[in-house]
Amino acid sequence: MVPLRIGLLGLGTVGQGVVRVARRNAEEIARRAGREVVITAASARDPARPRDCDLDGIRIEADPMAVVQAGDVDVVVELIGGVEPAGALLRAAVDAGKPVVTANKALIAEGGNAIFEAAAAAGVPVAFEAAVAGGIPIIKALREGLAGNRIDAVVGIINGTGNYILTRMQDEGIAFDDVLAEAQRLGYAEADPSFDVDGVDAAHKLTILAAIAFGMPLAFDAVTCEGIRGITNHDIELARQLGYRIKHLGIAKRRGDAVELRVQPTLLPETELLAKVDGVLNAVVISGDAVGDTGYFGPGAGGDATASAVWSDIIDIARDTQGGARVPALSAHPEGIRALPVRPIAETRSSHYLRLQVADEAGVLRAITSILADHDISVEAIYQREPRGDQDAVIAMITSVVRESQIIEATDAIAALPIARGPVNRLRVEHPGD
Ligand code: NDP
Ligand code: HSE
Repeated sequence: MVPLRIGLLGLGTVGQGVVRVARRNAEEIARRAGREVVITAASARDPARPRDCDLDGIRIEADPMAVVQAGDVDVVVELIGGVEPAGALLRAAVDAGKPVVTANKALIAEGGNAIFEAAAAAGVPVAFEAAVAGGIPIIKALREGLAGNRIDAVVGIINGTGNYILTRMQDEGIAFDDVLAEAQRLGYAEADPSFDVDGVDAAHKLTILAAIAFGMPLAFDAVTCEGIRGITNHDIELARQLGYRIKHLGIAKRRGDAVELRVQPTLLPETELLAKVDGVLNAVVISGDAVGDTGYFGPGAGGDATASAVWSDIIDIARDTQGGARVPALSAHPEGIRALPVRPIAETRSSHYLRLQVADEAGVLRAITSILADHDISVEAIYQREPRGDQDAVIAMITSVVRESQIIEATDAIAALPIARGPVNRLRVEHPGD
């Protein structure tokens, strides 16, 4: 099958991320899409400016409309931002019958009702997973995974820049303006960062989430919107003293026949899940009548993280071009599925928690640690409970990261020591992300 050809409008933070992910994951993408996907053209205001991605083989235009209209572009990916000229470009793509993928929440929240009407009339998909919560597939979760529920509430941290600012203020006492400048340097902030700090960006995203959750038209003007400019380091410290964290939340709740739509800085008890989501991370809790509460968290901004969501939409469109079931049961198309060797458990590596019951005698610790050392295992942390009366001693320890077979041999040897009082209790210590 011939490759699906992509035209990128915009080579900024997200556009460059989309190119990097294409270079890195071309094979995985083709297996899942069922056909090769290539970026043939891209646009930027300044085509000559060096970019942090490999643009080899991609034609760069100064005029984004030239990309929309190019004969070698099947799908238009809009990553310019703002309502215009992005809106005109998107409408031109739809008129030309070209599917559109966009990360532009401002455009969808403010102009989406008309866009979707025109796209439906033309039979052209307009996909926007990247418009809400960066890399978190929240739109798919809400629109597909929870489609059987009556959704009662969607509450979340949906602006990465704002959460980054509040977290750095809270943890390091850094002043608001300094952290905002850093978020801009990192590519998290909108072109106009007042959208982030005044809650407009979160209101755009909440508008989209509420429309999908409650089956209502996009109603951006109905969202009550408060920003975080007024939050001081002092407020953050006082809230902490009271056992709370200040988070900038988007809240959409069903209330009888009506809904509440608001974006506000909010105190959350420090034990709440959302209170613990820090930095540029976003998190959304969705309450459905059948499933109860479900939570989703991950990077809310940044080039590659947002590109992850952009690519999920492109792959959906590629799958749609081939008929049959839209999403293959195992994600990759049947011809793209390959057997992979499964690593034997003895070869897996992790750190371990060991609990040992041993005689309360001199030299016990030395005997244990020398067995561990013989197996090339070091001790990262150790705790011994003081024995009472003639009780045995209990020792708990955390080991370095080792192969499963190493720890099994070592704990068998420890259990065989004359001072051991029973088997060694062993649990793996998992560091998610390792
Ligand atoms: P950038 O400002 O980094 O990039 C915008 C790109 O569009 C640049 O390549 C720029 O050209 C080009 N451009 C800007 N204005 C025009 C114009 N008037 N005509 C033609 N081209 C133009 O934006 P981001 O990549 O950060 O954001 C893109 C979209 O993704 C926005 O809708 C944003 O809200 C959304 N988004 C951003 C996320 C992020 O983490 N940054 C996360 C999720 C969504 P040049 O490079 O030459 O200046
Ligand atoms: N400026 C936005 C944010 C980008 O910080 O959340 C992601 O939508």
